[in-house]
Amino acid sequence: MRREIERVETVSGPLIVGRHYLVPTVEGTWYGERRAWPVIGPLHADVEFFNFEKDHYHLDRRFLTAKLLRRYSWFRGGVERSSAEAAPLHAHRGEPPLPAPVWRSLRCNRSEIGFSFTDQPAVQALQAAFAGQSCKRGRAGLICPHRQAPLGSVPVIHGVVTCPLHGLMIDATSGRVIDTKAGSGA
Ligand code: FES
Repeated sequence: MRREIERVETVSGPLIVGRHYLVPTVEGTWYGERRAWPVIGPLHADVEFFNFEKDHYHLDRRFLTAKLLRRYSWFRGGVERSSAEAAPLHAHRGEPPLPAPVWRSLRCNRSEIGFSFTDQPAVQALQAAFAGQSCKRGRAGLICPHRQAPLGSVPVIHGVVTCPLHGLMIDATSGRVIDTKAGSGA
């Protein structure tokens, strides 16, 4: 019997590499390349913490091809960093606004989707602002309280879910945003 393709935001637990999922994709230009890019989370702006006023989407790098991942990733201090987590997809000057997402069946090329910039001051300010807040729970798991990104398929590492959009760290058991300053005397 043929397996129905799952919508990615309804999956609870890490995605399976090699399996196809229905993924929201948005046609736009990213690093000079125009195509339908896989995205995660809603269209939003981030003026408050990141001083980024353009409406944008974040790429879901689990669905980038291995070639694209290699092209836009690098290692620093043994940690993999990716332009796909650092640079969002937005309309460039002269382009129309980004269209609504179109769902496509795409192959999952990796199950990990973390965030490697949690040491950045803007990310730490975001963490402090949301510390202690409880996440809503959707059909598949936690929803990030910052921009409502679905976190059900984001792997839990040492009991923590790290939102792949802007790095908010959440206790997977309690569903509360971690207070990283607690106990530090700050
Ligand atoms: S949506 Fe911004 S940290 Fe989760």
